Amino acid sequence: MESQSIDLTTSVADIKLSSPIWNASGVMCTTIDDLGAVVSSPYTGAVVTKSCTLLPRQGNPKPRYAAFGFSGAGGSSINSMGLPNNGLSYYVDCARELGRHKPYFISLAGLSIEENLQMLSTLEHDELAQEMPIAGIELNLSCPNLPGKPQTCYDFSAMDETLRQTFEMCNRLPLGVKLSPYFDPIHFDMAYEVLKAYPKLRWVTCINSIGNGLVIDPIREQTVIHPKNGLGGLGGQVVKATALSNVWNFRKRLPDSIDVIGCGGVTNGLDVFEHLLCGASAVEIGTFIRANGVKGFQTIIGELTRAMKIKHYTSLDEFRGKLKTVMPSQK
Ligand code: SIN
Repeated sequence: MESQSIDLTTSVADIKLSSPIWNASGVMCTTIDDLGAVVSSPYTGAVVTKSCTLLPRQGNPKPRYAAFGFSGAGGSSINSMGLPNNGLSYYVDCARELGRHKPYFISLAGLSIEENLQMLSTLEHDELAQEMPIAGIELNLSCPNLPGKPQTCYDFSAMDETLRQTFEMCNRLPLGVKLSPYFDPIHFDMAYEVLKAYPKLRWVTCINSIGNGLVIDPIREQTVIHPKNGLGGLGGQVVKATALSNVWNFRKRLPDSIDVIGCGGVTNGLDVFEHLLCGASAVEIGTFIRANGVKGFQTIIGELTRAMKIKHYTSLDEFRGKLKTVMPSQK
């Protein structure tokens, strides 16, 4: 995207993108109208669907989403949606129209390896799916909101087995994974050991929500969401530092052939700038877009562009991945 001599183009999995931002899976992406609004915004580079299952799901009982924090609705969020979605074939159909305009990524979150393989097989082999302009698949290994189901990416052998079977099945479409946040260097190393064995992996998206937080309404003395006794995934401002750490840690470890997509804590253009500085190729935005709607993309791009102008940058590559460590102080 060329805006007042600022070049915001980027790429993920060698797919050229006019802008480095789009929705995070989970936000503005369940219906064709929402997905279409993201695609129609001149400020987005792509769109990703709600993480889907083979068949439609209602998800968890409501209330299952709440905003919180000092910046109100644009600040932080907790959710336990439970993967409400319209089923894989709906999102394959949506690609017919939407994928002609912008790269269209389908996010998959089967409830078992078998369900993921069945969906991957459809996307690989089904004639209708083959005709659709689907740019790639984001395999969600990180949903924290399914009662009784652990996040796959916290179980390194389960993640390895899932990826082994995935890449045996999947050859046609570029595929990336969405990961939960990690918090310790040893866990970044262990995740890297798994991921590096799969040369067909094209990107990792860091991060999904920080799972199993608890947000309380002190007036009513109760939780703000119902499922899992109020436990849910945290997003927005409260996760930004963790998201940046995950982007930086994976960018540092992974080969250049695997892009990192930043996700988490973006409420303004400088937050996108920071994700890029940590090495993200692109940035997905959730809580802020849920609160502000599609016009939020324009706000963020305006702020990013202004920040770049002030810093005399004309393209993302001039600063992407160039985060410096502050020098030791003398005092
Ligand atoms: C949900 O639908 O519960 C959120 C999905 C996710 O966090 O992966």
